[in-house]
Order: sequence, then C-alpha cells, then structure tokens
Amino acid sequence: MKDIKGAIFDLDGVIVDTAKYHYLAWKRLANEELGFDFTPEQNEMLKGVSRVRSLEILLELSGQTRTPEEQAELCDKKNAWYVESIKSIDESELLKGAKEYLIQLRNKGVLISLGSASKNAVPILEGLGIVDLFDAIIDGNKVSKAKPDPEVFLKGAEALGLDPADCAVFEDSYAGVQAAKAGGMYAVGIGTPEALPLADEHVAGLYELLD
Ligand code: BG6
Ligand code: MG
Repeated sequence: MKDIKGAIFDLDGVIVDTAKYHYLAWKRLANEELGFDFTPEQNEMLKGVSRVRSLEILLELSGQTRTPEEQAELCDKKNAWYVESIKSIDESELLKGAKEYLIQLRNKGVLISLGSASKNAVPILEGLGIVDLFDAIIDGNKVSKAKPDPEVFLKGAEALGLDPADCAVFEDSYAGVQAAKAGGMYAVGIGTPEALPLADEHVAGLYELLD
C-alpha cells in the first residue's frame, strides 16, 4: 500500500454489506412493476451506480420505457423498501476489518472521507456506529455527477484539504475505480483483478490491509 495522506472510502460493498438490500429492493420492483425477474448476475451492473441510473438499466433490461414522473415514482418506491430494510442496521453488518482499518488509518494520522453515491449514507454510518471516524462525508446528496465521473472523490480530497495524488480510494465497483483513476488517485480495488482491472492493487476486503 502506497504512502497516503488521505483515504476515501466507498460505502456499499467496501464498509458495509448493503448490496443485498439494494438487490432485494430492485428485484421486488422488477417483479411488481416491470414484470421480469432481476437476477444476481444482472445486479452486478448496478454496483456503484446511482439510483436514477440503476432504474434506467432495469428499464433497458425489461425493454420498457417510463415517463420521467413515473421513473421518479419507481425510484421512490425502491428507496422506501430499501430504507425499510436498513432502518435497524447495526455494527453486525460491517464488513470484516472495516472499522478496524479506519481506526488503524486514523492512528497513523491519515485523514478519512466517505465517497459514496448513496443518498442514504449518513443514516447507515450512524447505524453502524462509525460516523465519528470520518473527517468528511461526501455522498449522493452532495454530488451532481455519478461515478465514473470523479466528482465524488475530488470533493472528498478537497474536503480533507488534500491533493488527489496524496489520496487512495477504496472501491468495489468498476465505475468507482474508473472514477478514482480519472481523479488522479491511487485505487485499491476490493475484488479481483478480473472484475477491477483498472485498480492499482487488489484485496478481498479491508481486513487484508490490517497491520
Ligand atoms: C451505491 C450502491 O453505493 O449507491 C448502488 O453501490 C446504489 O447500488 C447507489 O444504487 C445509490 O444509493 P441510494 O441509497 O442513494 O439509492
Ligand atoms: Mg460499492
């Protein structure tokens, strides 16, 4: 792992295992509203992707179109189900080594930001009991361009007062790694080199980075 002054973390799939709840909510929407069965394989395309873009992908898969108003209603419906499923989230949903690695970095003086597409990031961090470990939080409410655009990570570096080149991004999605590289940051891929070919290094989870 390269020497860094700042660390920017994706949330879903890096710190917490919320991907399954996103999947179940999209699957229910596909079944109830779009008349098709959304598979775990198709769900891979949604990793790191914003809510609005995720619905567009579902519509493409179903071969259907909806007006912008209908799309907003479908997104709200999916989000209501998702929010219900995460409302009692607690530290048992933390991915292995995540909290320990955040603490390890803090103890070394590394500044920490969140860099997530999710608009539900803050209640999730609160439920996990780790919100105080972050020096900055950049989430889906603070950006206008979705990954692979680097906006979310550039805002993270800026909020930490650091040059992007002094920051590492920890990401599990292809679009997220693309965003990190587009922003000039070191990218740690949480996943395989096959899934995340653009990352500078790969680990199976943050637990592999513990001293
Ligand atoms: C990303 C997830 O972190 O956030 C995506 O990987 C999700 O699956 C996106 O769609 C947006 O999340 P939310 O909570 O704003 O719908
Ligand atoms: Mg992710």
